Amino acid sequence: MLAIDHGYFQGPTTGLERVDITILPLLPYADTLMLTRGILRSVIPPTYTRGIVLRASGGPSILKELSDEEIALDIEDAIRLNAAALAVQVFIGGPYETRTVHNMTRLVDMGMRYGIATLAVTAVGREMVRDARYMRLACRICAELGATYVKTYYVAEGFDTVTASCPVPIVIAGGKKLPENEALEMAHNAVQQGAAGVDMGRNIFQAESPVAMIQAVRKVVHEGASPREAYDFYLSEKERERGKA
Ligand code: R5P
Repeated sequence: MLAIDHGYFQGPTTGLERVDITILPLLPYADTLMLTRGILRSVIPPTYTRGIVLRASGGPSILKELSDEEIALDIEDAIRLNAAALAVQVFIGGPYETRTVHNMTRLVDMGMRYGIATLAVTAVGREMVRDARYMRLACRICAELGATYVKTYYVAEGFDTVTASCPVPIVIAGGKKLPENEALEMAHNAVQQGAAGVDMGRNIFQAESPVAMIQAVRKVVHEGASPREAYDFYLSEKERERGKA
């Protein structure tokens, strides 16, 4: 899954200033696109026919308390836009923890009426420790309360315990931009330790060659490529792309 929904609280994030130029070339390689309805309506062509995961929560910008979110989408619009899933931020331990959990359960209920899945996104507040203990807690709560699948962050120690204790599929967010070889290694480790896949944004669209990177990530997730194989592929594709320019 390719995540490009960052603008819903960050505005024009680096790499997403011109979605029409930077993201459209990536679409043939994305199984699913996670985005806001604003970008879907204004930029993504109707010829895109793969999965749509719609950002369904929002409210605060980066200038405010991020957990202060509400549901920001009507189910009828999600149906109109042919969403496969609705994505909602859940801030376990955050100042508005209960509201964000209830945002999720309401979306689960709305989605269930129409066969639309809910992706719970475990958002880690600045004050939280990003470790397996926290991720186990957050992922399990989301699954227990009805999320169809959960997005969380990879942690180097004990990620297998996070996937093992969560009864629904887990995908990992990429997080802040890493060197490409490290991002591929993280994706590989996550899948080896039980993640169903990735929902990656910045590590793809901020890569030196996003088209090469998304294909390298695909190799890890779908073909079981090792980090080395995927990185070698990335480097050769990057050169090929450069040759085309
Ligand atoms: C939060 O901004 C969004 O849910 C992103 O979709 C998510 O964080 C994944 O993007 P990245 O891989 O850049 O962390």
